[in-house]
Amino acid sequence: MSDFQEWARHVAGLTEQTLAELLPPAGSNPQRLHDAMRYSTLGGGKRVRPMLAFAAGLVTNADIERVKIVSSAVEMIHAYSLIHDDLPCMDDDVLRRGRPTCHIEFDEATALLAGDALQALAFELVSTHKLADLADVQLEMLQLFIRACGSHGMAGGQAIDLANVGLAQSITLPELEFMHMQKTGALIRAAVMLGARCGKGSGTNDATNGVTNSGKDVEPETLASLDRYAKCIGLAFQVVDDVLDCESNTEKLGKTVGKDQNANKPTYVSLMGLNPAKQFANELLNDALGALKNFDQRADRLRQLAEFIVRREH
Ligand code: IPE
Ligand code: IPE
Ligand code: MG
Ligand code: MG
Ligand code: MG
Repeated sequence: MSDFQEWARHVAGLTEQTLAELLPPAGSNPQRLHDAMRYSTLGGGKRVRPMLAFAAGLVTNADIERVKIVSSAVEMIHAYSLIHDDLPCMDDDVLRRGRPTCHIEFDEATALLAGDALQALAFELVSTHKLADLADVQLEMLQLFIRACGSHGMAGGQAIDLANVGLAQSITLPELEFMHMQKTGALIRAAVMLGARCGKGSGTNDATNGVTNSGKDVEPETLASLDRYAKCIGLAFQVVDDVLDCESNTEKLGKTVGKDQNANKPTYVSLMGLNPAKQFANELLNDALGALKNFDQRADRLRQLAEFIVRREH
């Protein structure tokens, strides 16, 4: 096992454990709702978003207890988005992470509520745990997170996605990019930025160029570079998801393949073709790595994750 794989496994284990503690206890009332929340959040998934939060936290020397909270909160939003994405009124999928989707295992009303409750719990976590030394910074983190989930983020992207069912050729590449950046990119960006902001600044007082840092917040240049990285890999993630829907198989993915084509949805594959879509994902990988060029080896996990996101087979 490579050093990266070992680290990834460690973060996935930590995420599983933290989520299990933060979610409402199994069997507690209302039991069916709590069971559905746990069913859809625990025991599966690549945990890419938590890994991104931890990797960004390494760049900014973040407190691991804080990163555990933000990464779990992001993963709860992700789980909620998948529960709703699989509902009959959306993508109508029966298989997720190799198991029946939430509404098949439970029922549609429970699936809807499990998503709602996961979203509320995620926001509760980020607003009740101390995640930054400055209250203003924590408020900014909460705002960034909320915005990533709403109509200018994930939910907005999903709305555009659904408005284009049956219209695979009807939107332009810039419009498709906008949709992907919202439906998938926004939450991935939030994972990176929230992980980073659990860290501190250098606390240096550099008299030569007049730059001072209180040590209580991350330097704006660091955040700007991480933001560029996050936008590139956020888009790349969905481009690869489109590619895999087209050329992988159901067993490997743990979800039904060929859904995009069946629904005649616009994707990078339908608009560009399979090979150009792969090529585009590679260009985004290069851009993501370029955004990290001023960082030392502390950004290596982010570099490895970018490679993983583009080269993954599931
Ligand atoms: C799938 O996300 C849905 C998209 C946003 C493309 P992931 O591929 O991260 O799903 P899991 O968490 O590993 O199951
Ligand atoms: C889902 O995109 C994006 C969100 C859940 C926000 P997809 O519909 O392509 O995801 P999969 O392929 O079902 O995992
Ligand atoms: Mg969908
Ligand atoms: Mg789907
Ligand atoms: Mg997909």
